[in-house]
Amino acid sequence: MSVGKKVYLIGFMGCGKTAIGKRLSFALRIPSYDMDKEIVKQQGMSIPEIFERYGEAHFRKLETEFLAGFRDEYCIISTGGGAAIAEENRKLMRETGLVLFLNAVFPDIWMRIHRDKNRPIVQRSTRDQIEKLYNERLPFYKKAAHIVIRTEGKTLRQITDYCAFQVNRLKGEH
Ligand code: S3P
Repeated sequence: MSVGKKVYLIGFMGCGKTAIGKRLSFALRIPSYDMDKEIVKQQGMSIPEIFERYGEAHFRKLETEFLAGFRDEYCIISTGGGAAIAEENRKLMRETGLVLFLNAVFPDIWMRIHRDKNRPIVQRSTRDQIEKLYNERLPFYKKAAHIVIRTEGKTLRQITDYCAFQVNRLKGEH
């Protein structure tokens, strides 16, 4: 496996990418960035505003631009839940880093996201629609990932330790 400089956390909304990214940053002593937050900063608009004013397709373009343009640095990037769906994005991530898929079960995900006003896809969809999207996206996350990490029944600490173990195990393999 050829692994570049970055560690990408991928997975569906609410799987823990941001929370694990922060903890992994402490564990590995490297910076972590949240892709959504970086896009919000760049654009000077919230995610719901970007969706509303320019549409989802435009947001997807911003995600690809972010992945293609982010500086060459040993760091963690917590991606948005849709970032691993486009083939171009999967290629960019796999070529520039180690891709870890946080595989959470749907009931856990739903519990965490269903009230979130900052996630436009959740706002406009029913539980069944979100579950369908979750199932549709699973194969893409698996395709993008070097490592799949099942999160069910594990604490944030346990997940972080396992991610750190995998990064340390694989980072020498260039
Ligand atoms: C999205 C997930 C969000 C954010 C946007 C779209 C998606 O990120 O990028 O609302 O398509 O799944 P999180 O996974 O951090 O919620």
